[in-house]
Amino acid sequence: MLLISSRMSKNLSYLSSRKGVEKNVFERMVAAADARGTAETPDFVQKLGKESLFGDAHTLGAVSAYDFLKAENADKKVFLCNGSACLCAGTQKPLHDKLHTHFKEEEIGHICCLGRCHEGGAFQFKGHNYSGQSDAALETLVTTGEGDAADRYAVVGLLQPAVLTADFPGVEAYYAPFRGLLGKDRGWLAAELKASGLRGRGGAGFPLHFKWQSCREAPGALKYIVCNADEGDPGAYIDKYLMEQRPHSVLLGMMVAGWFAGAETGILYIRAEYPDSVRIVDEAIAELHAAGLLGQDILGSGFNFSLKTIKGAGAYICGEETALLSSLEGQRPEVRTRPPFPTIEGLFRKPTIVNNVETFANLHAILTMGGATYAKTGTPLSSGPKLLSLDSHFAKPGIYEVAMGTPLRTVVDAAGGFKNKVKAIQVGGPLGGLLPVEKIDSLTVDFESFKNAGFLLGHAGVVSIPDWMPMIEYIEHLFKFTADESCGKCFPCRLGSTRGKELIAKARTDSSYQIDRELITDLLDTMEQTSLCALGGGVPLPIKNALHYFAEELEPFFKK
Ligand SMILES: Cc1cc2nc3c(=O)[nH]c(=O)nc-3n(C[C@H](O)[C@H](O)[C@H](O)COP(=O)(O)O)c2cc1C
Ligand code: SF4
Repeated sequence: MLLISSRMSKNLSYLSSRKGVEKNVFERMVAAADARGTAETPDFVQKLGKESLFGDAHTLGAVSAYDFLKAENADKKVFLCNGSACLCAGTQKPLHDKLHTHFKEEEIGHICCLGRCHEGGAFQFKGHNYSGQSDAALETLVTTGEGDAADRYAVVGLLQPAVLTADFPGVEAYYAPFRGLLGKDRGWLAAELKASGLRGRGGAGFPLHFKWQSCREAPGALKYIVCNADEGDPGAYIDKYLMEQRPHSVLLGMMVAGWFAGAETGILYIRAEYPDSVRIVDEAIAELHAAGLLGQDILGSGFNFSLKTIKGAGAYICGEETALLSSLEGQRPEVRTRPPFPTIEGLFRKPTIVNNVETFANLHAILTMGGATYAKTGTPLSSGPKLLSLDSHFAKPGIYEVAMGTPLRTVVDAAGGFKNKVKAIQVGGPLGGLLPVEKIDSLTVDFESFKNAGFLLGHAGVVSIPDWMPMIEYIEHLFKFTADESCGKCFPCRLGSTRGKELIAKARTDSSYQIDRELITDLLDTMEQTSLCALGGGVPLPIKNALHYFAEELEPFFKK
């Protein structure tokens, strides 16, 4: 069964490649929804199915997978964030009630997550994101359309001199190391990347030099560079910060990857929930064209490279790299089995480097100071700088840059501690570890420290779970999130997340019911060990952490 579906998906990749990146099938779907509120109409599905040769069923399967393309969201006028950080901020119920005085229930939709975790009260209205609005400002916005959409948060450099948060000196100066690189040998860069020890910042911590070398050595003249800017982890707004305030750091990294691997096209897949990121990155790409740094035969070097943004359509699973590639091809965003890995068979089944936004942003520092010097920051296994994003329960929420290996307590103290009583934090998104606040003193910000203690650094967005939030409600939220966002390809995740959600919901609402411990353990173990990707495979970690560290609070819901 899996084999047939994988062959079918391959055939669709080849069909999609006929349209290429410029006229790609996915953007047609998004454009249709932008124009009419949905792409899920019989006319459009049949038309695109015929043009792309995908057929109706595959086209419908694709459009119906995305929140912003689905027919059910066509008439929604306002979208409330239902991510973990807004849930824990406790802002969404009052916000919903206020909006309900202006909109009918069926006009209020949900969205996750807008990256306004530093403020809470996040929602999207007429294509703009808002958060933390006063009652008066909200009233003015919905009645006149006038509002303040500015995104304000602290940006704090605890690493000196700053690397990722350093001031931008202008295109001319910033791209000087790239100009220098064009005259160098690719073997030189391979050695510097290896010496840097840079590991991917998207969550898995995979060594960058290994990935890039694999794509470089993969046979084939056509290769792609893809920036994973689908930052869907509630609590994370690190990539948003980089795209909106340091876009050239990301673009330079992609250009270096293109030069190294022999790719001529770079694509930034940016989530639709970040409209400002798409606009600002597009402006930065235009600046590069104006400076002669993109296009054919860049600065007479023989290197051709173009960059393009593609806006997502509201599906968390598109952050998983193979689902992202399927999405770019206009296929249903389902996870692909590996091997082959994207560096061998990626976009349109061609060798592709997929890296996270923050990962690419490190390349400027490696070019400037050299791999060995770069590696002096951080720990031997987790080198370089790292950004964390802190939610609204901190006294000074925002983006914090640290050297890997910095005590987590240093970050919490620099943020002025918690302004509310907090019992736990979840670091690294919905699949990251859930740690009681007492653990903050024993952890350092690096992959090993978190892993060795039974947690996960992930992308390092931080969500605080306040004292007033029942832990059972948070567990139900995690199961529900996974059930909503599962791509459905494998049973353990598709069924397990839904069964888990039902078990917890029943125990919460029916005081005569208690969950069998063996059953929940079995369910979590099965999801963890047999899911195809880290959505179904990852969510058991925070739930197990909660069951372990908050056993007393959770006792009433489980059989002895
Ligand atoms: C469910 C799921 C969601 C993910 N979301 C993201 C994401 O939003 N951004 C990201 O860069 N990586 C995400 N990843 C990890 C990617 O699959 C991939 O490992 C990453 O883009 C590789 O880049 P890196 O090596 O630079 O980290 C996700 C993985 C899973 C399983
Ligand atoms: S674990 Fe979930 S999201 Fe991942 S492949 Fe399976 S069904 Fe899809």
